[in-house]
Amino acid sequence: MRAQLLTSVLLALGAHGIRILQSNDDGWAEQYIRVLHDKLNNAGHDVILSAPAENKSGTGSLDVGPSPRTSACEYDSCPAGSAATGNNATNLRLSWVNSFPVTSARFGVETFGPQLWDGQAPELVVSGPNVGSNLYLEVQFSGTVGIAVYATHDVGIPAIAFSGASDGRLAFDAPVETRSIVYAQLATQFTNAVIDSGVPYLPEDVFLNVNFPKVTEECTDPTKFKWVLSRINPGTFSEPDVKTCGITRLPTESSVVGADGCLISVSVGDSKDKTTAPAEKQAVILEKLRGLLSCME
Ligand SMILES: *[C@@H]1O[C@H](CO)[C@@H](O)[C@H](O)[C@H]1NC(C)=O
Ligand SMILES: *[C@@H]1O[C@H](CO)[C@@H](O)[C@H](O)[C@H]1NC(C)=O
Repeated sequence: MRAQLLTSVLLALGAHGIRILQSNDDGWAEQYIRVLHDKLNNAGHDVILSAPAENKSGTGSLDVGPSPRTSACEYDSCPAGSAATGNNATNLRLSWVNSFPVTSARFGVETFGPQLWDGQAPELVVSGPNVGSNLYLEVQFSGTVGIAVYATHDVGIPAIAFSGASDGRLAFDAPVETRSIVYAQLATQFTNAVIDSGVPYLPEDVFLNVNFPKVTEECTDPTKFKWVLSRINPGTFSEPDVKTCGITRLPTESSVVGADGCLISVSVGDSKDKTTAPAEKQAVILEKLRGLLSCME
C-alpha cells in the first residue's frame, strides 16, 4: 500500500517507474544485488529479483533446468532440502533458482515476473552489480554478461550488466558496506538515465557492459565518478568506432577502469558474440547518454 502510494506520487511528479527484473551470478543473497534492489524500488520502479541459489560466477550463458537443493542456499538463505526454486517467505519479489545465472533470469522473465506483473514481462533487465570486474576476455565467461545477452538476444528485452572492481563477497544480512551503497547509487543513476532516454531503451541485439572502478577514499561520492564510452576488446584491426572526444577509436574498458579519476567504463556490447557493437549502434547510445558521458583526460 505504501509502495503503491509512493509509486503514484513519483509518477505524478514525472519520474518514470518501470518493471525491472534483476539477476546476477553471485547468488540471490549477495549484498550488492540486495542493496541495488532497495535503491531501484525507492526510485519508484517495480522490481523483481530472480538469481541463482548460490555463487555461479564464470558460467557464461549456461542454461539448465533447476534441480532440488541438497545443502542450504548461500549464506543460509534457504534451508537444506529445499525445492528447485523458491522465494523469500515474506517477500515474493525475491526469488532463487537452483541453477545457472541465465536459467534464473529466464525463470524471472517466464514465471516469477508474469506472476506478479499480471502476466507481463519485464521492460528492462538489470544484471549485477557483479562482485569483481568483467572486462575484455572475462566478458565471454561472465554469468553477469550471460544474463544481459540472454535478455537482449533471446527474448528481446533491453539489459544492462553492472560490475564493480571492489570484490570480496558480502552476505545480504551482514552490515551494509560503503561499496555496496556506492555501486547501488551509481547503478540506479545509470539505469534511470537509460530509462529517461526513452524507448526503445537500446538498439536491437545490444547490451551495455558497465564496469565501476574500486571504491576508495577519493572515489566514494557518486558525483565524483565520470562515465566514459568504451570498447570491450581492443580495436586495433576493427572498423572505426563512433566519433567522440575528437577521435574514432574508443578506449578499452580495461584502460578506463584502470585509469585515475574514478572513471566508469560503458561499453556497447554486441549480443551476437559478446564483443563491441558496431559504430552505428554506439552512436545511438552516445546520443541517448550525451548528458552523462565524459571524455578521458
Ligand atoms: C564463485 O565461484 C567461482 C567459480 O566457481 C569461483 O572462481 C569464485 O572464487 C567464487 N567466489 C567466491 C568468493 O567464493
Ligand atoms: C526476506 O525478506 C525479509 C523482508 O524483506 C528480510 O528481512 C529478510 O532478510 C529476507 N531473507 C532472505 C533470506 O532473503
